[in-house]
Amino acid sequence: MQKALAGLRDWVDERLPIVKAWDTHMGKYYAPKNFNFWYFFGVLSLLVLVNQLLTGVWLTMLYEPSAEGAFASVEYIMRDVEYGWLLRYMHSTGASAFFAVVYLHMFRGLLYGSYKKPRELVWVFGMLIYLALMAEGFLGYVLPWGQMSYWGAQVIVSLFGAIPVIGPDIVEWVRGDYLISGITLNRFFALHVVAVPIVLLALVVLHLLALHHVGSNNPDGIDIKKNKDANGVPLDGIAFHPYYTVHDIVGIIVFLFIFCTIIFFMPEMGGYFLEHANFEQANSLKTPEHIAPTWYYTPFYAMLRAVTYPLFGLDAKFWGFVVMGGAIAILFVLPWLDRSPVRSWRYKGWMSRVAIISFAVAFLVLGYLGAMPATPGRTTVAQLFTVVYFAFFLLMPWYTKIEKTKPVPERVTMR
Ligand code: HEM
Repeated sequence: MQKALAGLRDWVDERLPIVKAWDTHMGKYYAPKNFNFWYFFGVLSLLVLVNQLLTGVWLTMLYEPSAEGAFASVEYIMRDVEYGWLLRYMHSTGASAFFAVVYLHMFRGLLYGSYKKPRELVWVFGMLIYLALMAEGFLGYVLPWGQMSYWGAQVIVSLFGAIPVIGPDIVEWVRGDYLISGITLNRFFALHVVAVPIVLLALVVLHLLALHHVGSNNPDGIDIKKNKDANGVPLDGIAFHPYYTVHDIVGIIVFLFIFCTIIFFMPEMGGYFLEHANFEQANSLKTPEHIAPTWYYTPFYAMLRAVTYPLFGLDAKFWGFVVMGGAIAILFVLPWLDRSPVRSWRYKGWMSRVAIISFAVAFLVLGYLGAMPATPGRTTVAQLFTVVYFAFFLLMPWYTKIEKTKPVPERVTMR
């Protein structure tokens, strides 16, 4: 049996280099030996991606993408299809889990300067993944055709109307109708189940190819390729397989434990994962009292609402749109804003440390404010933290240049 399998492997390998690919990406991919907790979130993102694809395919078999049938088909999945509730909750909880692990994964990049040379492309592909993920989450939330699906789509699509001159035409083009309707739902379905997942998968492949070409960063932010043994193997590197494959199983089990607890005991998460208003069918004549996006968009939503002044003859909604778009766009150029000679925050100066902590606080506070109904007081706080958010990026070329950094060790440290 073993001989037959080896024969098959060799037969394929002569035609398609699978052994070489395995070695390049697993068996002889030498990753720094000092990976810590923060390095679990890449593999967890992959795990959640697979979960979303599998549960998504099965949900598609049972869901009906029409204004008349969508809401009822989700109820059918939840009540009549065997284990349909599990499929749906795995997918809806999976969406929140995706953003949770991706946010932690991105924050790790910030802490350890993983976006800096030579990993700029890894970061840019990551940002494109993040954009695709945001689009995917938004499109998916419309599909159950509940009140929040409908009105959320209404708010987000109408944002494009703030663009001068061409805005109203864009809105109509996106909706495919004069209001959000079954036609809009149908095209969102096509985008959610076919177009965006293909883009997402392609980007994840490019993200990993780019990473494996330059090699992984690590919590010390030092280059392990500088110290190699006689065989050319980095002294501070260990083979990804079996060492990190086994190591990652620990993270996967802990993650699955938390994931299952949420699915079985709190799938709506008090309205943060599945909003209460979405258990009511979409009604174009009844606006919900408080429209808030799902938690993973709320920091950006808070920034959108924080802009309350018209400028240069353009209304506040337009400038809010610009600020919100700018908050995401600025993340793309992060590799070129950081001018520090060191990568990891362990060796950066106090200004970078204060900046990273202020940025994280601003992101969390904005996230909270975006989930709450707007009041004048909350709007002022949101304005303040929007300034902190942008200051982190815009002042970065300055504070990373002038601050005094700590000496970086020659070899990785195990703390
Ligand atoms: C579907 C979403 C994503 C998947 C499946 C994914 C997957 C991975 C994996 C498996 C790794 C290697 C393991 C690790 O370093 O944790 C990695 C590394 C990395 N990812 Fe992602 N990623 C995703 C999204 C993102 C996003 C949104 C960003 C940032 C904008 C990003 C930035 C990075 C960076 C900078 C590295 C290199 C880290 C280092 O070497 O220190 N990724 N990613």
